[in-house]
Amino acid sequence: MRRVAVAGSPRGQLFHELGRTRPADVELLPLSGGAGERLDIRDADAVRAAVETLAPDALINAAAWTAVDGAEADPEGARAVNATGAGHLAAAAAAVGAHMVHVSTDFVFGASDGRPFAIDAPTGPLSVYGRTKLEGERLVRKEAPDATVLRTAWVYSSHGQNFVKSMLRLMGERDELGVVVDQIGAPTWAYPLAGACWAAATGRVSGTLHWSGAGVASWYDFAQAIRDEATALGLLENAARVRPIATHEYPLPAPRPAYSVLEIAPSAAALGLQPDHWRADLVRMLGELA
Ligand SMILES: NC(=O)c1ccc[n+]([C@@H]2O[C@H](COP(=O)([O-])OP(=O)(O)OC[C@H]3O[C@@H](n4cnc5c(N)ncnc54)[C@H](OP(=O)(O)O)[C@@H]3O)[C@@H](O)[C@H]2O)c1
Repeated sequence: MRRVAVAGSPRGQLFHELGRTRPADVELLPLSGGAGERLDIRDADAVRAAVETLAPDALINAAAWTAVDGAEADPEGARAVNATGAGHLAAAAAAVGAHMVHVSTDFVFGASDGRPFAIDAPTGPLSVYGRTKLEGERLVRKEAPDATVLRTAWVYSSHGQNFVKSMLRLMGERDELGVVVDQIGAPTWAYPLAGACWAAATGRVSGTLHWSGAGVASWYDFAQAIRDEATALGLLENAARVRPIATHEYPLPAPRPAYSVLEIAPSAAALGLQPDHWRADLVRMLGELA
C-alpha cells in the first residue's frame, strides 16, 4: 500500500476527482488543518508538521488560487498560494523523501506561433495568475528537483465551478449567448487529469509534463458542444443559441492567450496513458449530471 498526501480542498475540482480515481493500492491522505478544515498551504510550519506526521510516499498539490481575473487585483494573494505555498509543499515533501506532484497551467505560456507548446517552449505568462504559477513551478523545482510539474488547461468537472457548469446555467436562462471564438485551447476533464496525477505520483515520474483532453476547440466550439450534448442527454430544453464573439467584445481583467494548446503526446507516453478527445470526455462528464 502506497500512501499519498493531497493538498487542497474538497471544494476543488481536481481534489474531488483524485478521490474518485484513487488506485486500489493507494491510501489517500488529505492534508488537514484540523477541525475538518483544509490545511492552508501558505503556512510553512503547518505544512512541514503535517507532512512530517503523515510521512507519505508522494504528495500531490491540488491547491491553487485559480481566480484568474481576481489575481490581477491581488497579485500578492495569488503568489502566496501559487508560488510560496507550492514551495512549502515541495520543501516538506523533499524533507521526508516523498515524490512531489505539482499541477501547473498552460497560462505559463503566452504568445504562440499557432502550434502546440512543447514542454521546453519558452514561457511568457500574460497574466498575474500565469506569472505566479510559473514562479510556483520554479520554486517546486528548486525545493524538489525530482518533482513532477504537470501543466494542464481549461479544466472542468461535474464537481465545483467551471465553464461547462456556467454554460449549462446560462443556456437554461437565456435565449442567446455570445461566446469567444478567437481563443483556442483544449478542454480537460478533471477525472482523467486526476488519473495522470496518480500515474505521476505512483510512478515517481520526474520532470515537466503536459496533460489535457485531445484535440482543440475555441470557447465557442466548446459551448456549442456543451449545448448539443446536454440537449441530447435531456439536461437542456430549448437551449440558448450560441453566437461567436471576439475577445474584445467580452473584456476581462486578465489577458488570455489566443492559441494555448499543450503538446501532450510525449507526456502521455511517459505516463503510459492515452487522453481521449475532449468531446468524448465532455459527454462522459455530462452523463454524470444527467
Ligand atoms: N481550473 C482550470 O481551468 C485550470 C486550468 C489550468 C490549470 N489549472 C490548475 O489545476 C490545478 C487544480 O485546479 P482546480 O480546477 O481543481 O481548481 P479549483 O477547483 O479552484 O480548486 C483549487 C482549490 O485550492 C484550494 N485553495 C486555495 N487556496 C488554498 C490554500 N491557501 N491552502 C489550501 N488550499 C487552497 C481552494 O480551496 P477552497 O475552495 O476551500 O478555498 C480550491 O478548492 C491548479 O493547480 C490549477 O492552477 C486549473
